[in-house]
Amino acid sequence: MSVQKSFAELEKMHRACSIVVETLAALAEAVKPGVRTKELDRIARERIEKAGAKPAFLGYKVRGLVYPATLCVAVNDEVVHGIPGERRLEEGDIIGLDLGCIVDGFYGDSARTVAVGRISPEAEKLMKVTEESLRRAIAQCRPGQRLGDLGHAVQSHAEANGFSVVREFTGHGIGTRLHEEPQVPNYGKPGRGSRLNPGLCLAIEPMVNAGGPEVEVEEDGWTAVTADGSLSAHFELSVAVMPEGPWILSEPYPYSTRKAAS
Ligand code: MF3
Ligand code: CO
Repeated sequence: MSVQKSFAELEKMHRACSIVVETLAALAEAVKPGVRTKELDRIARERIEKAGAKPAFLGYKVRGLVYPATLCVAVNDEVVHGIPGERRLEEGDIIGLDLGCIVDGFYGDSARTVAVGRISPEAEKLMKVTEESLRRAIAQCRPGQRLGDLGHAVQSHAEANGFSVVREFTGHGIGTRLHEEPQVPNYGKPGRGSRLNPGLCLAIEPMVNAGGPEVEVEEDGWTAVTADGSLSAHFELSVAVMPEGPWILSEPYPYSTRKAAS
């Protein structure tokens, strides 16, 4: 079953998430034609350590593989989990920046896709629709709603705009581990799936493709790309389900009463 958090625990998550989102803002400023992706990784690592936090992805193990960097990058047709390296960004690229950190044992995880200089109207629209689909899913983070309501919010908005959602990767519960129960798919049917209880924390992360939904993983074992070479965008925020409504954990607590989450 999914883990519910106390308000004191949520405050630690809030610190972790705030550091992640502030670092992503600094990275977005640093994104320019000619910049190498490993330079972005260096900036991310330095900022997280300066804030007194620990990188969450560095050394993270999945399927016997160890992730070797602080930041995940995803340029153009890359969907998620690209390893920063020598590649230089070019005018017209879009780049997904995905970052996590740990504060007092609690995780924050967030991502955004940003433009490198001037980009095509299609890329612009893809980024806008992906971020909107995340906001729509967050609006469903109220007690009593179900996981299918979140997935449906993402899928219906992406598909109404002619795009498709990735199935192979999902959002996730988050807390004292980066990935907790439940999985949070970016597709689904309203009223289906498990109910959201107060104090549940979710990292919601739509990955939306301009073409078909299929993805492939490259030789490095990490970088996911669209099978048809189409563009992909990714936005992620960590959110607590609160009695009054959703709390985006990188933002100040939005309600006047600080009710302990059951
Ligand atoms: N936000 C990503 C996720 O939840 C980051 C994981 S990268 C990893 O899947 F290296 F840590 F796996
Ligand atoms: Co995540």
